[in-house]
Amino acid sequence: MIKTLKVKIRPYMEEDLEGASKVAYRAFKGTLDAKWAIWGLNRCEKVLVAEIDENIVGVVELESFWFKNILHGYIYYIFVDPDWQRQGVGSALLRGAESYFKEQGAKYIWATTGKRNFKAKKFFEKNKYKNIDPQELKKKYSRREFKYLLWHLYYWSEDVIYLKNIT
Ligand SMILES: CC(C)(COP(=O)(O)OP(=O)(O)OC[C@H]1O[C@@H](n2cnc3c(N)ncnc32)[C@H](O)[C@@H]1OP(=O)(O)O)[C@@H](O)C(=O)NCCC(=O)NCCS
Repeated sequence: MIKTLKVKIRPYMEEDLEGASKVAYRAFKGTLDAKWAIWGLNRCEKVLVAEIDENIVGVVELESFWFKNILHGYIYYIFVDPDWQRQGVGSALLRGAESYFKEQGAKYIWATTGKRNFKAKKFFEKNKYKNIDPQELKKKYSRREFKYLLWHLYYWSEDVIYLKNIT
């Protein structure tokens, strides 16, 4: 029998810190990304958690910024406990993020991940995020705009950039 997961997406609260931090450590295997993801919990503009049976199993951290008079959303970190991966939790968090950004009036959502993060790349592509070559952005925008944009995307040279139009 196929069991459907009961995933609840809700806003993060301060008392979620311990549970959400545990998930970050497990998802990022204690690397520096785990530290930055935990840092984001109480600092990002909006954080959503995924709960199953009242346990936190995933988190998405969101930021937004104005660029050329348009509001843009950015997925800072998204992570799911390894025991719960590949069961739709990450996609449910992403849908929650998209609803939040739509409500705010954003037209685009950006995400970045490491070139070697095969799982995350597949994940964003499956959710209809388009891989954008930074050279394309460099051609399209002025030097100042390009720098401003990459700064908001926390971009560094080992990253892949994704973009989704949510209008
Ligand atoms: C990326 C991540 C958030 C995805 O969460 P998830 O709950 O496993 O994702 P979903 O179950 O919604 O998967 C949706 C699709 O993504 C792709 N995908 C996810 N995990 C995959 C894997 N291990 N291998 C290949 N494709 C994968 C698949 O296309 C999948 O659809 P399918 O199962 O129908 O084939 C999760 O793998 C994770 O926490 N990784 C570690 C943290 C990280 O690297 N975060 C991203 C950078 S911030």
